[in-house]
Amino acid sequence: MRAVGLMVHGGPEVLEVVDVPEAHAGPGQVRLRVYAATVNPTDTMARNGSRAEQQKSDPPPYIPGMDAAGIVDEVGADVTTGVKIGDRVVAMVCPKASHGAYREQIVLDARAVVRAPAGTTHVQAATLPMNGLTARQSLDLLGLSAGQILAVTGAAGAYGGYVIQLAKADGLTVIADASEADEALIASLGADFVVRRGNDVAMRIRECFPDGVDGLADGAVQNERVISAVRDGGAFTAVRGFLGEPQRDITFTATSVRDYDSEFEKLDRLRQQVEAGIVTLRVADTYPAAQAAEAHRRLEAGGTRGRLVLEF
Ligand SMILES: NC(=O)c1ccc[n+]([C@@H]2O[C@H](COP(=O)([O-])OP(=O)(O)OC[C@H]3O[C@@H](n4cnc5c(N)ncnc54)[C@H](OP(=O)(O)O)[C@@H]3O)[C@@H](O)[C@H]2O)c1
Repeated sequence: MRAVGLMVHGGPEVLEVVDVPEAHAGPGQVRLRVYAATVNPTDTMARNGSRAEQQKSDPPPYIPGMDAAGIVDEVGADVTTGVKIGDRVVAMVCPKASHGAYREQIVLDARAVVRAPAGTTHVQAATLPMNGLTARQSLDLLGLSAGQILAVTGAAGAYGGYVIQLAKADGLTVIADASEADEALIASLGADFVVRRGNDVAMRIRECFPDGVDGLADGAVQNERVISAVRDGGAFTAVRGFLGEPQRDITFTATSVRDYDSEFEKLDRLRQQVEAGIVTLRVADTYPAAQAAEAHRRLEAGGTRGRLVLEF
């Protein structure tokens, strides 16, 4: 069975088409014929060796990929989610060794798999699970109430866009960063205030909200540089493990989407929010799976708006 993975860590060129054994759905599992898998920043880290320590107990090939969209082609015993053979579905994949989304077929816990949003293609639908769940988790960790103020950095990214849209659906006021070129995009996602991105974004957020914001989701990984935007006693959530030094009663959390693996109801709620027009799926471009290296190069160059998607 065809997959895209790596035998050695390195640059995009290490990605190659590999053959992996076919697997079957066991109890509580379903198998997908995958048609689309997104390319995320985390995939480039799995590829370039930044995670080599975590991977070293497993033999290669290492197959990246955290989002899959496709059609169910096997349902194991004791599956209670109502999923059937032939259903169009999406899933978040938590990669381990050769278990990643860049493959033609994947076996998953049935609770990781939900119906694809109606009216979407496999390519569009694939952009939802991982970043949608990450955005949901960040908002859950921040624990803000309707009417409170949320700041979002890296707002033009896949994660940042979903944070804005889900925050608006939760009744929050949102201030988000943008380059000049992205201002219209960020406003169209629903941000109430848009400030210029950059190292002094915290100062610009304070210009709008002199007491600071109630919560901040740091999609741009600016860490210490943006803590000052948060009010005393507010909340800060990071996406790459950063936990700020204790200060001003701010609650620091590290968003880690693997904690939302197999959270069927949360992913299905996101599906409903797409169908309701609350969450927008953004695709930058598609590549045949065999050209995954090119997609990685393009993601690493920066500047993509929307997700790059591999087609199988
Ligand atoms: N912990 C988890 O579970 C988890 C899950 C999902 C994502 N993440 C992480 O979350 C981050 C965002 O993911 P993503 O998929 O949204 O990435 P993305 O689509 O590449 O978006 C990142 C955005 O941030 C912008 N940016 C970069 N540097 C910036 C700066 N200094 N100030 C303002 N904006 C800046 C980028 O703009 P340019 O394109 O112009 O550079 C891009 O629009 C990544 O670090 C990813 O690894 C973590």
